[in-house]
Amino acid sequence: MTSKTLRIESGESTRRSYGGALPASHGPVISGEGINFSFGQGELQKQILFDVQLEIQPGEIVLLTGPSGSGKTTLLTLIAGLRTLQEGRLNVLGHSLCQAPQQNLLDLRRKIGFIFQAHNLLPYLTALQNVQVMFDLQPHVSPAEGRDRAVAMLKDVGLGDRLNYHVSRLSGGQRQRVAIARALVGGPQLVLADEPTAALDSVSGREVVNILQRLAREQGRPILMVTHDARVLDIADRVLEMQDGRLQTNTVRTERPSAHQSATAASALST
Ligand SMILES: Nc1ncnc2c1ncn2[C@@H]1O[C@H](COP(=O)(O)OP(=O)(O)OP(=O)(O)O)[C@@H](O)[C@H]1O
Ligand SMILES: [Mg+2]
Repeated sequence: MTSKTLRIESGESTRRSYGGALPASHGPVISGEGINFSFGQGELQKQILFDVQLEIQPGEIVLLTGPSGSGKTTLLTLIAGLRTLQEGRLNVLGHSLCQAPQQNLLDLRRKIGFIFQAHNLLPYLTALQNVQVMFDLQPHVSPAEGRDRAVAMLKDVGLGDRLNYHVSRLSGGQRQRVAIARALVGGPQLVLADEPTAALDSVSGREVVNILQRLAREQGRPILMVTHDARVLDIADRVLEMQDGRLQTNTVRTERPSAHQSATAASALST
């Protein structure tokens, strides 16, 4: 697939398939400080995160890099409400995660799109069914509408000609794009991605990242993406580096135009 086949839809039709406009947001999407986190108990307790502080603004694409074992996935799962915060302050999409009740965490998870490397697809279903099944879980979407929107989203990630392929017959990059479409059902207000390009060759990896970048630009959806992939650093507004459980303060600010200049940038990309 060439980059030309990555169709850039108009903002309005994209918003419709992805589940509506983002609510106007004020202040950071993620803000945290003094975050410490340990695995294990007693003598076996091992501290993994040390005094982490971070802030991510609406529409930003932030990459998180750092050596294996430095704590990147651990931080991502805390932000996602998949682990309980032990120490510090963490606010995500207006939810405070300090001693947050389960219901609060559930509400938060519904607003987040997760893209993990092991893409959690159902191998015996087709690409279309994998996305459609997510719409079936949405109370206000009829089966016919769910199908139409799933088709639109798969076309949007360049898989219009693979709708009825079982995912076991798709390439790694194509599966990852189905996983992106699945993660975006419900119109998440924040996208968290953990090494979404790790298993991909450079062309497929770039395509996957282009799709994520376009989402951030067109729709202002903020993305926090863990990556070791130096080839994708240029899509970021900022690159954060984790070392031994500490976020380095000297983050790199890249030259990417702001998400708020999105429409122009997105149409330039499509040519
Ligand atoms: N469930 C767990 N129980 C105990 N220790 C864990 C658990 N998960 C991760 N760890 C440890 O926490 C540390 C950080 O792991 P984490 O997965 O956050 O690293 P990472 O930066 O994502 O690494 P990679 O780049 O290899 O994915 C590692 O030393 C790991 O062994
Ligand atoms: Mg990891």
